[in-house]
Amino acid sequence: MMRAKIVGTGAGIPKKLLTNADLEKLVETSDQWIRERTGIRERHIVSPGEKFSDLCTHAAVEALKRAKVKAEDLDMILVGTISSDMLFPATSCLVQRNIGATRAAASDISAACVGFLYALHLADGLIQSHKAENILVIGGEILSRYVDWTDRSTCVLFGDGAGAVVLQATRGDHGILGSRMKSNGNYGDFICMPGGGSNAPANDPRTLEDRLPFIRMRGNETFKVAVKAMADVSSELLAEQGFEKEEIRLFIPHQANERIIDAVGERMKFPAERVFKNVDRYGNTSAASIPIALDECVRGGLIKRGDLILMTAFGAGLVWGSVLLRW
Ligand code: ACO
Repeated sequence: MMRAKIVGTGAGIPKKLLTNADLEKLVETSDQWIRERTGIRERHIVSPGEKFSDLCTHAAVEALKRAKVKAEDLDMILVGTISSDMLFPATSCLVQRNIGATRAAASDISAACVGFLYALHLADGLIQSHKAENILVIGGEILSRYVDWTDRSTCVLFGDGAGAVVLQATRGDHGILGSRMKSNGNYGDFICMPGGGSNAPANDPRTLEDRLPFIRMRGNETFKVAVKAMADVSSELLAEQGFEKEEIRLFIPHQANERIIDAVGERMKFPAERVFKNVDRYGNTSAASIPIALDECVRGGLIKRGDLILMTAFGAGLVWGSVLLRW
């Protein structure tokens, strides 16, 4: 059976740091509140002029180098994001141009914080059905450009970045073993940005007057749904693939909030040392959170050949999902 195996990872992180102390100067908040309620200490955000496609390109070049795969050999580029450079063309096409992936088809996937896992799920399907051999999958976001910097309930949460993996078709036991993606549009208003799309276009002055192109979130309700959804879909995937929780070497949940990560880990009964966290240093980077985490784990030697890795994410849509792989 053909499997999609990750053969290289990379990340593109903006240099600029925004600490909780910096946020204390912007809104009525405190380092203590942010750390206690979210676990976040600092996050990276883009500087003026820095583009989303630049971060993605940086991540892509690193991943290709580590994979020893040439850009010309890519069949497909998928970018999971809700903050592309422009509404169109897709950021994946800009990355294709930047890296010289002349043979690759390219498309963006919109699934908020689950964008990377959705893209991985689709890429796995393309490889299993022999439609592609080498796929670049990127998850990235610069939500700092959509955050309402006067709203303390959201502006303290998000960070910017991009992460990339190169998937290669392989035969054998290593690679993506299974994936499950879900959605429930009934909760679409839990997290949304109502302006900037065709319903309230950016070129209509009323869009900005009504402050529509900003992230809105019902954080508390989202929190409750997120914990159960991520734990349930991860458990379902493990059962479907015939594995026990004890066999998982590393659980990498979406890095939105340390309390959510801990709650999902406890619900799944994973020992704390098997649950990866870096939310303290990046904040919620949405679609970038899992590929950045994966890249850190690989470079930090936390993942060894043969390890079972379980990843899960949750975000606006609402959408959620889980991917299981053997490294
Ligand atoms: N500083 C100080 N006080 C604050 C801040 C802040 N930055 N933000 C909110 N508060 C206050 C609120 O006003 C409220 O005050 P009140 O009790 O006087 O009304 C109090 O703190 C508690 O507010 P809650 O919203 O109930 O706080 P909660 O413990 O739920 O934490 C948070 C909020 C961090 C947003 C949390 O709910 C959360 O992480 N939710 C999930 C977010 C998520 O996972 N999103 C999905 C991905 S995002 C995407 O898809 C793009």
